[in-house]
Amino acid sequence: MKPIEIKPGIYWVGVIDWAIRDFHGYVTKNGTTYNNYLVMDDEVTLLDTVKHDFDATAVENIRRVVDPYKIKNIVINHIEPDHASSIAAIMEYAPDATIFITERGKKGLDRHFDTSRWKFRIVKSGDTLKTGKYTLTFLETPMLHWPDSMVTYIPEAKLLISQDAFGQHMASAARFDDEFFSCHSQFELDDAIVDYYANILMPFGKLIEAKIQEIVKLGLEIDMIAPDHGIIWRKDPGYIIQRYLDLAKGKADLAAVIIYDTMWHSTELMSDPIMNGIKDEGVPCKVIKLRSTSMSEAIKEFWRARGCLIGTPTINNVMFPSVAEFLYHLAGLRPKDRIVGGFGSYGWGGGAVKEAYAKFQQMGLEAVEPGLQVLYKPSAEDMDRCYEFGRDFAKRLKEYHGKFQAV
Ligand code: FEO
Repeated sequence: MKPIEIKPGIYWVGVIDWAIRDFHGYVTKNGTTYNNYLVMDDEVTLLDTVKHDFDATAVENIRRVVDPYKIKNIVINHIEPDHASSIAAIMEYAPDATIFITERGKKGLDRHFDTSRWKFRIVKSGDTLKTGKYTLTFLETPMLHWPDSMVTYIPEAKLLISQDAFGQHMASAARFDDEFFSCHSQFELDDAIVDYYANILMPFGKLIEAKIQEIVKLGLEIDMIAPDHGIIWRKDPGYIIQRYLDLAKGKADLAAVIIYDTMWHSTELMSDPIMNGIKDEGVPCKVIKLRSTSMSEAIKEFWRARGCLIGTPTINNVMFPSVAEFLYHLAGLRPKDRIVGGFGSYGWGGGAVKEAYAKFQQMGLEAVEPGLQVLYKPSAEDMDRCYEFGRDFAKRLKEYHGKFQAV
């Protein structure tokens, strides 16, 4: 892939992964990129590597700019394998390079590679590396999203290399935000941002907010944000900062999503009048059937909307497995500021809807009680109850959403 000069003497030397659809279980429907950057200065410095599947491409990309042997420093902002697992291949060509990394990053790297012959410099927030005309300043971002994480700021270039932060899983011919719309839409961009945030960063909202405020207080001049995935923000880096702040604060659309699964279509039948009830209250509503939709898509739509209704039949006195899996996964993402409810059909003992509410309580979500259950298959009267259930939920949702608008 052709290196691209993003600032004078600073090159994108990353890889576009057009084919990946399973990113440790997260469905990357648009593929992704592994961005890394090469600073051509008195001391040639590589910022991050790429996923090991692309070792050969990573080396070749560097070679198009400089002999990899000349790399003097390698900055590892984050040790997750999509960014750090080509390090061994790079070190074959640049065995004398010094690796700049956080203490936790070094410990993690030691667990993945034989690092005994590699040179390291452990860095903390505020430490710098002068490469010549450029100064690389490191800022630790622990738990954003791994303990080892940091970002690198280059003041002379007003450039923030932000590792995962501000990224998107999006394989594209476009490298920059201003090129993006020549082949994609605004919807695709925002969809990719929300998808990435919801599935990877949702648990860290407070930390993200605090870290962005810290960067703002430091008064860093930033006219380009170059993440390790997706497009580089050069036209309007403020846009992605504000979008992240909104997402971190839990901002949501006044909308609902029904996420359900069904055994013999009874819970599915209930979804339809519930959706109509929500819609008739003027609230947009999406419907997602688990098992027909990826978990990551469902998570994204959950986070986009202020309200969610979970539909689950009862099987063996508990929730349907796909619904249980969804709620289990959602709980790990520690969602906040969402209103939820549950519904479903049962044959004899019931239990699934009750179990869903226990999960809502565990997550600390606002729940509209008591949910709605129907025996076996919904009758005409049950369908009317479903419609009213949808309307009532939408009314509560609007009220709940209003509290956030007033802040
Ligand atoms: Fe893109 Fe946390 O790795």
